[in-house]
Parts: sequence; structure tokens; C-alpha cells
Amino acid sequence: MNNTHQWWQAGVVYQIYPRSFQDSDGDGVGDLPGITSRLDYLHWLGVDAIWLSPIYPSPMADFGYDVADYTGVNPLFGRLADFDRLLALAHARGIRVLLDLVPNHSSDEHPWFVDARASRQSAYRDWYIWRDPAPDGGLPNNWLSHFGGPAWSLDAATGQYYLHLFDPKQPDLNWRNPAVRAAIYDAMRFWFRKGVDGFRVDVIWMLIKHPDLLDNPPDPSWTPDQPPQDRLKRVYDQHQPEVHAVIRELRAVADEFEERVLIGEIYLPVEDLVAYYGLQLDEVHLPFNFNLVKLKAWNAQAVRELVERYEAALPAGGWPNWVLGNHDQPRIASRVGQPQATLAQMLLLTLRGTPTLYYGDEIGMEDVPIPPAQVVDPQGLRTPGYGRDPERTPMQWDAAPGAGFTTGTPWLPFAKDYTSRNVTAQRANLRSLLALTRHLLGLRRASQALSLGSYASIETGNRDVFAYLRTYEYERLLVVLNFGAALVRLDLRAVGERGSLAACTLMNQTGPVALAELDLRPYEGLVIVVT
Ligand code: GLC
Ligand code: MG
Repeated sequence: MNNTHQWWQAGVVYQIYPRSFQDSDGDGVGDLPGITSRLDYLHWLGVDAIWLSPIYPSPMADFGYDVADYTGVNPLFGRLADFDRLLALAHARGIRVLLDLVPNHSSDEHPWFVDARASRQSAYRDWYIWRDPAPDGGLPNNWLSHFGGPAWSLDAATGQYYLHLFDPKQPDLNWRNPAVRAAIYDAMRFWFRKGVDGFRVDVIWMLIKHPDLLDNPPDPSWTPDQPPQDRLKRVYDQHQPEVHAVIRELRAVADEFEERVLIGEIYLPVEDLVAYYGLQLDEVHLPFNFNLVKLKAWNAQAVRELVERYEAALPAGGWPNWVLGNHDQPRIASRVGQPQATLAQMLLLTLRGTPTLYYGDEIGMEDVPIPPAQVVDPQGLRTPGYGRDPERTPMQWDAAPGAGFTTGTPWLPFAKDYTSRNVTAQRANLRSLLALTRHLLGLRRASQALSLGSYASIETGNRDVFAYLRTYEYERLLVVLNFGAALVRLDLRAVGERGSLAACTLMNQTGPVALAELDLRPYEGLVIVVT
């Protein structure tokens, strides 16, 4: 495997939510020059790639996931020249840049949709999904928007409904229409020619819908405490067999260029997820694996079971990947608490496969409660209690009034703890989560066992401990994670007699360890080079 692996296999991806990373002009919204000014931080941290959530022109009904021009830059974020500069300076530091591609839907303000809704005869009409009202004048079928309410809105002027799996301002494009495909492929080429290293593809498993738009059946596992839009099983509006042919085309476009990567956003259990590698490994390079995010119980047994199921489900040659958080999910530190979040960071950065880090998780940023009157996320507005603003608050750089993020008023409030939980404070503290993250990223880069090696679970005899071995040729790294609140002593002589400590979540131990009597404190994780 030496030298034959792709950069994104050994690499680590860092997700930036552009509105919240760094503001450069005092308008309270992050922007491209802001990101550029933080490249040295990202380089210091040691990430290999950044993925930017959408930067395109957009009315911001879904904060950029409603694209009005696939080959432009939103003036809120800067100009195309600012992007070119960011790309060049990132590349100069060895950092690749991935953009977000949002092909499932455009903004209703995209010229395509403006034209499409102007008349039934529009050349763009069939670029979207239109249906006549039901005989009683009602909705064409029972599909529900992910944000809440029906997935159809009536266009009164032309008398038909259009489909939107998300906001009414995000009409779904008709991927059965070859013209739509060609237009999006050209947009991809535009960015690839500039040197963009790849795309994270938004809701890629939803691109094709059942041809007959059949009603979705009720989901028997739904309970009334869950969002009402989840009461139907999404059988016919996502994960259709024909989507794979489309994804193969997207991949072929990426393959026209060298060393580009496609990462697909797909929320599916591991057994279904792996289909998106493609039968010939000709679909996305990395179907995002969100199963750690969706895990119901956070404990050693549940995590181990998931890792083993995923490892077993992967197709030959399919490269794994892991995620703990993103802009749509409650933050890991809020889901599991700070001590467990530190352990989770060690897990993420030592499992086999490409990790994606969400901005701010390296300092343990938490969800910020947003008072109802300040909710801006369309999902939070339509389904109160399920808003995504809490995990999108500005990056906490320092203890100054604007948190080092802005000189103006931030578009979302800062966390209350930002004066203590920030990058500057944690850079000065060798036992911080930031220091651990940087240390683990450095270790990963230096160790082929960690970045490329094989994976094997280890029996520890303790149900609170999850341990595994990463091996590459003669290099063996043992990872031992104590998910429990009690001290544990393990006998791991089955792995080896002794080792030397390479990382510790509590960051206060180094040197040789005896595997016969290995002690772990509550929520402690260790990486041990087996000697
Ligand atoms: C994806 C994005 C999410 C967005 C939705 C619609 O799930 O991650 O933020 O709202 O797609 O584009
Ligand atoms: Mg700004």
C-alpha cells in the first residue's frame, strides 16, 4: 500500500461552516478572507483538507443549501478572487479544499426555477418535478419535507405542485432529465478546473425518486415525541436503485481530473450505506458514515458493535470513514459530555478510515441554546425543538468581546463559556482537547499503522473498555478506551508484554507501560506502541 494510497485515505478532513468560522469585515458573518486568515491555524492543527459548506450565491433560506448560482460566490462571503486566493494559499500549505455540491435542489430564485415556473411551456419546466393536484385538488402524494410540512407547494400561477424534500424555497431538480445532469456536471468542472480537490455532495442518496412517486408507508417505529415528518418511512423519496447510475456519472466527472475526491452525504445504516461505493468502486470515494452520530447509546459495547459491523460490511477496497458531528447534528460534547467527547476524539482519530472533524469540536464547543425568537434555521422554524442553530454558532477563537470571530454583532450568539473555552486558551494548555487533537493528528501523520493500517478488535475482559489494534507491517498500535466512570486494570498480555505510550486523553503520561497491568482512569484513552 506504500505510496499507492490516495491523499484522502491517509488525510483528515475539517469541515468549515463559512458563516461561523471567521468574519473579516465586521458584518457578523464569516467569510472567505476570514477563512484565509485562519489557514495558519489549520496548518498548525494538522488537517489535510477543508470542506466548506456552500459559498455560492443564495437567498440563504437554508443558509447556502439553496443555491442560486452554481459557479459563483455569494458577495456575503467575498468574490471569486477571494476564493482563488484561499485555494492558492491553502494549497501552498498542503491543505486541499473541498466544496459542497448541492445537486438535489436549487434555490427557487435560481434562474432555472424562475423560468420553469413562468409557464408550463418553459424550456426549464422539466428541470424540476411538477405534478397536477390530486382529483380533490389536494397534494400529489403524502411525502413530507425534512424540515416539516408537505413536500409539495402549489404554484398558483401555473396550477401545479412542485416537489421540495426540504424548504419550499428549495425545489428539487429532476435528475431524470439529462439536461439537469449536464448542467451540474459543468458546474463541477468549473471548480475542478480551478483546482478544487473535490466535493462533499449534499443528500446524494435522494437524487432520484421513485418514478411513480408512490405514497410513503407509515413508519411503525415512529413515536409522537419524534418530529412529525419522520412518521413515514422514506421508502420512495430516497435510496432508489437508479440513483447509482447517476452517482457513477458524477464520479466519472471527478475522474476526468486527477486526485479528486467525492464524499457523499448519506444517512443510512452501514449495510445500506456501503452500496454507495459502487459495485466497481465507481461511485463516491467516501459515503459519509454517520453511524457514530446516530448511535443511540454511547458506550464501549455499542461503539464496538458498530465498528465491527461497519468493518464487516465494507466492500473489498472500499475505504472507511468516520464522523462525530456536522452542521446538522447536536455537537458531540453536548451529546456525550466533555470527558466522553475527549475519548470520542481519540476514537475518531484512531479508527481505520478517513476522519472528518467539525469546526469547534477540537475545543469541545457545545450546542448553544437559542431562544425561540432568535431561531433562524428553517428546520427550527418549521419544527420547533429541532433547530440546527445551536451547533452552528461562531468559532471561539479568544476571550475578547467578539471571540476573535467578529468586530460586529455575530449572526448567532456566542456560547456563554467562550471566554474560557477558546483556541487561545487551549493552545496555552498542554492538557487541553485542542492539544490532544493536534497531538493525535501528528501521530496519525507519523504512523502508517494509524493512517493506513488494518483494524482488529481486542478482548479486554471489561465491558466498559473498547480496545483495538492497528497494524501496518511491523508497526502495531494498541488503542484502549475506557468508556466507564470507574478505574480499570487490564491484562493485555495477549497483545504483547510491553509498549510505550504514544498518546493519552489526560495528556499527563508518557513512557513505557506494562501490558500485564494496564491502568486506566475514568474516561481515559491510551494509544500504545506495542514493542
Ligand atoms: C443536507 C445539509 C443540510 C441541508 C439539507 C438540504 O442535509 O447538510 O444542512 O439543510 O441537506 O440541502
Ligand atoms: Mg463577514
